[in-house]
Amino acid sequence: MTASEHALHPGQQLDLTGQSGLTALPTPAYVYELEAVRAAHEQLVAALPHPSTLFYSLKANPHPALVRELARLGCSAEISSRGELHAALQADVAPHRILYSGPGKRDDDVVAAARAGVRWFSVDSPRGLDQVRRAAEATSIPLHSLLRVHAATPLAGRGLAMAGGPTSLGADAEWIEGNPDCFRDGIHGLHLFLGSNFTAEADLIRQFEVAIASARHLYDVLGLPLERLDLGGGFGAPFAQEGTLPSMPNLAKAVADLLDDAIPTWRDGRPEVVFESGRYLVSTCGTLLSQVLDVKESQGTPVVVLESGINHLGGMSGLRRIPWIVPHFDGPAEREPGPGSLVTGPLCSPLDCLAREADVGRLRPGDILRIPNTGAYGLTASLVGFLSHPQPLEIVTDGGRVVSTTRLAMTRETLDPAVTLANMEVT
Ligand SMILES: Cc1ncc(COP(=O)(O)O)c(C=O)c1O
Repeated sequence: MTASEHALHPGQQLDLTGQSGLTALPTPAYVYELEAVRAAHEQLVAALPHPSTLFYSLKANPHPALVRELARLGCSAEISSRGELHAALQADVAPHRILYSGPGKRDDDVVAAARAGVRWFSVDSPRGLDQVRRAAEATSIPLHSLLRVHAATPLAGRGLAMAGGPTSLGADAEWIEGNPDCFRDGIHGLHLFLGSNFTAEADLIRQFEVAIASARHLYDVLGLPLERLDLGGGFGAPFAQEGTLPSMPNLAKAVADLLDDAIPTWRDGRPEVVFESGRYLVSTCGTLLSQVLDVKESQGTPVVVLESGINHLGGMSGLRRIPWIVPHFDGPAEREPGPGSLVTGPLCSPLDCLAREADVGRLRPGDILRIPNTGAYGLTASLVGFLSHPQPLEIVTDGGRVVSTTRLAMTRETLDPAVTLANMEVT
């Protein structure tokens, strides 16, 4: 079959659940559906107490179409690098709606962001606070710092906890309490992000309870102005397997009640209460389509080699940070079920494994697997792509003389959909 018989055109309807829709697309490909972003945004906004501001965390996916859609819907942007700053500005996020967070910022990152119009920075230590102060002096631009707090209380739940043990994220609450003079000057609010991917509503509410109690206490200890309180988020979402976004029918009231008790002026916007979310907003919009390149058996186990490995999905899963994927094969119904397969990518490493004992049936080379809910922490959650940080220089010397200086760069090429999709050969 030739490309022209299968050519897709911009604006054409895609059926991602049917085999014909899948074979019409070149692979490997991530497909992001904007209607899923809009639905997730509506669901999350409905679950939050108001008044509040919702920030989209670009670390989940900095794709400009997703960032632009979320900004259009009213989201502000939380960024953690100059690469993400660039992505947010390219997607028309107004710079005053950006929060620059993350440990280990360079002085010139802060100055560049300030010059681009960013006014809010989350800082993790007295040095971070001083860095923002120096950038404000150097640029003569008034800048605001949110002090990120690492609460000591360990949290329950399936999430990736960011409270408890030693961490680079934030300043320990006890440190702040014991040395308020090191922290007091120049702070305009507090930032608490206690964990990620909580799927049970009760666990989410509990972590907001810890965050609000900690914030109330530290506002008193530091005698801070109540400008902004960033309560983080941690809203869970399915990753690389079928599933829907958790519903949170009780969250808004529970968090509003906690805030009413601790900081009643929040209802007048003092402080402005802020929430952040990455995965909840974009996880369900993404599907990775990947073709089977080889099928064989090893020690009695079927092995399926895909064209996508941990270089395309879950780079951090190689380090066991995220669970196995559960891919789907939407092939002919009569295909007999096979024993559980080992699903790998094409990389020459035993770490390049996406799933064990996966129920994908008996596949053949050329079949296409669909990996759902991969809009968050997919392509750019690879170890060098994560957070869009620049790569290190590679300097080659010969006898002490520099003979080459290069830097690997990841850039986004914009392709014409009609040309990209029409030129492919469908077999
Ligand atoms: C400060 C901060 N904000 C937002 C996020 C986004 O988390 P999620 O994608 O789980 O919503 C993270 C995740 O690590 C984070 O550390």
